[in-house]
Amino acid sequence: MDALEAIRLRRSVRSYSDQPVGDADLDELLRLALMAPTGGMAQAWSLLVIREPKRRAALAEIVIAGGGAYFASVRPAQPGHTPEQHAQWGLDYANEVLGSYRHVPLWILGLVVPRDVFPPEDRDKEALADEISVAFAMENLFVAARAKGLGTVPTVFHWYNEPALRSLVGLPDEIRIPVITPLGYPTAFPVGLPPRLKELRRPWRTLVHDEMWGTTRG
Ligand SMILES: Cc1cc2nc3c(=O)[nH]c(=O)nc-3n(C[C@H](O)[C@H](O)[C@H](O)COP(=O)(O)O)c2cc1C
Repeated sequence: MDALEAIRLRRSVRSYSDQPVGDADLDELLRLALMAPTGGMAQAWSLLVIREPKRRAALAEIVIAGGGAYFASVRPAQPGHTPEQHAQWGLDYANEVLGSYRHVPLWILGLVVPRDVFPPEDRDKEALADEISVAFAMENLFVAARAKGLGTVPTVFHWYNEPALRSLVGLPDEIRIPVITPLGYPTAFPVGLPPRLKELRRPWRTLVHDEMWGTTRG
């Protein structure tokens, strides 16, 4: 599969088999990820691979619990539900849609490792450049994984439970975890977006402006 097709066919995968990922495939994906552009060649990044069964089981619980918190915070409560009932609904829903994370063979954490190359007064600019660079690396990985028939999904659910993840992998305070992904073989590769998301997809022409803001093509 070429890069254009892999970009077209990449989808967020939330249902995985327990089929292992080969070491050679994993190494190739990691190297392709780290060929992404990096602001000022700072390489203010690292990729942390989690394969050990107990550690990945713990991570799955962190992500599922975080997903529950996310769903409860962005979706409205059912009429009459108490905050506790709504939180429980979020958790039940996360278990339903993310349950296969408990047996996905591995996870990759996209980390920002600050290099402090900008002057102190511009560290906010540096932080943004570093996060963009990690996102580019992860997108390389997502697209390359798709070309190999492997699934990924950009995941930030750990933001809701970050101290647990930091202690799980022994992260020093200065290192940030903007995005993580499971990596594994999908039970089935999603074809197209689910109907709910398809409805939300804005026509690309409405998102493109020519020359001046406000001149969209559609
Ligand atoms: C910054 C960012 C954060 C995301 N966080 C999550 C997440 O925490 N959990 C999740 O299941 N999907 C997450 N996604 C995936 C999006 O939901 C998904 O990309 C979007 O619905 C479009 O679907 P597609 O990736 O199949 O094209 C995230 C995507 C981005 C770009």
